[in-house]
This record gives sequence, C-alpha cells and structure tokens, in this order.
Amino acid sequence: MGKNTVSLRGKHILGLEDFTPEEIRLVLETAKEMKNIIHRDIKKVPALRGKSIVTLFYEPSTRTRTSFELAGKYLGADVVNITAGASSIVKGESLRDTLYTIEAMGVDAIVMRHKAEGAAEYASHVVTPVILNAGDGAHAHPSQGLLNLFTVEQHKGRLEGLKVAILGDVLHSRVARSDIHGMRKMGMEVHIAGPRTLLPRFLCEEPGIFIHDRIEEAIAGADVIEVLRIQLERMKGGLFPTTREYARIYGLNAKRLALAKEDALILHPGPMNKGWEISPAVAYGTQSAIQEEVQNGVAVRMALFTLVLTGGKQE
Ligand code: CP
Repeated sequence: MGKNTVSLRGKHILGLEDFTPEEIRLVLETAKEMKNIIHRDIKKVPALRGKSIVTLFYEPSTRTRTSFELAGKYLGADVVNITAGASSIVKGESLRDTLYTIEAMGVDAIVMRHKAEGAAEYASHVVTPVILNAGDGAHAHPSQGLLNLFTVEQHKGRLEGLKVAILGDVLHSRVARSDIHGMRKMGMEVHIAGPRTLLPRFLCEEPGIFIHDRIEEAIAGADVIEVLRIQLERMKGGLFPTTREYARIYGLNAKRLALAKEDALILHPGPMNKGWEISPAVAYGTQSAIQEEVQNGVAVRMALFTLVLTGGKQE
C-alpha cells in the first residue's frame, strides 16, 4: 500500500482490531513529530485551532483524560471535560441524550470512557463527531495500545520479532486486548501468563499467542514485559487467594526480571498496585518505562487528534 493512501481522517478510534499495520505505522510516525512539540518551551501549535473536543468520562482516569486534554490544548483545540459525577448523568440522563447534547454544541470529537463494552462504538452510530474510545469495559483501550507500541519502538528501534510477556489480570484488561491486537499486527511475539482464573478463554484459541501457567516461562528471554494492574474493582471476589499469594506466584520482582533479556523494557499502564503485581524496585528501576509511557501518551493522543480531525501530514 502506498504511503499516501493511508489516512485516518474521520475514522472513529474504537479498537486496534480495526487498524491496519500501515495505519498503526502512520500514528507512530506522527507521534514522533508530536513528541518534539511537548519538549518545546512553548507547547502550542495551531494545527487544531477552531476545533472543539469534549472528553466524556463515565469512569475515573488520571492519565488518559489529562493527556487527551493536554494533547488537544497543545494543538490549539478547545477542550471541555465532562465527568459523569459532575454532570446531568447523575440526574439520570441517558448516554444517547448526553451524546446528542454534546453533538448539539457543535463539537468535532468526543473522547469517551465507559464501563460498558461497545459504548464507544454505539456512540459512533448515534452522533456525528469523531469518537475516540478511551476505554470501554474490558474491550479496548486503543490509545494505550498505541502508546505502548510507540514506547517500545522508541527504545528498541523496531517492533517486528520482539518477544513481549503480558502478565497478570488479562481477564479485566482492555489494555491487554488492545496490546495483543496492536503487537500482533506489528509482528511481535506475544506471551501471556497469569492465574488461569484471570485469562479469558478466547485467548487460548487465538493463533500466534503463547499461554503459560508460570510467569517465568513467559518472561524468559523477553524483550518487553508488560505488567497488568489487578483490577479488584471489577472482581466479585474469589479469582485468586490473596494479594500476598498473587505477589508470591505472579508478581514481577527483580529475581524474575533477571530471566528476561538484560535490556528488557518494563511497561505498566498504571495505576500500579506496587508490591502486588510489581515490586517497587522493578517499577522504579532503570528498565522501567512506566513514566515515559505517560509522556508518550500525550504525543500519541496528539497524533490521533491530528490524524482524525485534519488528516495530518497526509493532507
Ligand atoms: N492507563 C490508564 O488508562 O490510566 P488512567 O485510568 O489513569 O487513565
């Protein structure tokens, strides 16, 4: 496919299953340019002047909401945030009516997080602004998947052929699902390990994914290790004995990290349960790119806004 034929203009960003490798490549290349803007003294360009963006969050967020907001502002857009608890949603307004209300104000894009899987896709069918999924239940978190790819490539200089170990609570993780789609499309070898009770059944049948009972097997020789947060808030209980047991059997600590390649990169989408799924020494160690992921999140979200609202450099 010729480079100039790839465009994301007007595309709803719902999940990485909808992306081609060429589209992912376009986002990663654009994000590189955007990262330069973040490092300037004056972080402001007029690329999205006159565009308006609403972030609509039905679930809590620190990184995703703030970085989408900053991304829009650095590009000169007007950005307004709506959190469910401080809106007419608490008076019982439905998702559809909330979306209609936002649309009526003439916005160009809606960044949306919702506990229901498929909520972002639903929004894309009922209103005209471009929808960017900032997390829908356990289904997808595409911008996190893209920022993980971007972070890995910045360190390793490539994606194809790298071995990644994804550890822990895959069952509740929209990040893991987006990672798996994105990493497979970009030619990475995906190994998954964690308690069987936290591994979705469909993964065991997915071609090209290696499932391990012991995390040591997944970590051995890995170039990248992504540790997932234990999502206690989505569990009704009983999926593993205690957090102490979890840390003992499945936690990433320095001893287990030593099984990976010497320069293996550590990712975690945050927020972390330090001492459970990851030890503080590993989380803050020299191989950790966890803070860098946060900064790269701004660059990748700037790239997404530019590409979906203007077509970016392809124009
Ligand atoms: N990674 C991530 O989605 O973090 P937040 O919940 O803080 O947005």
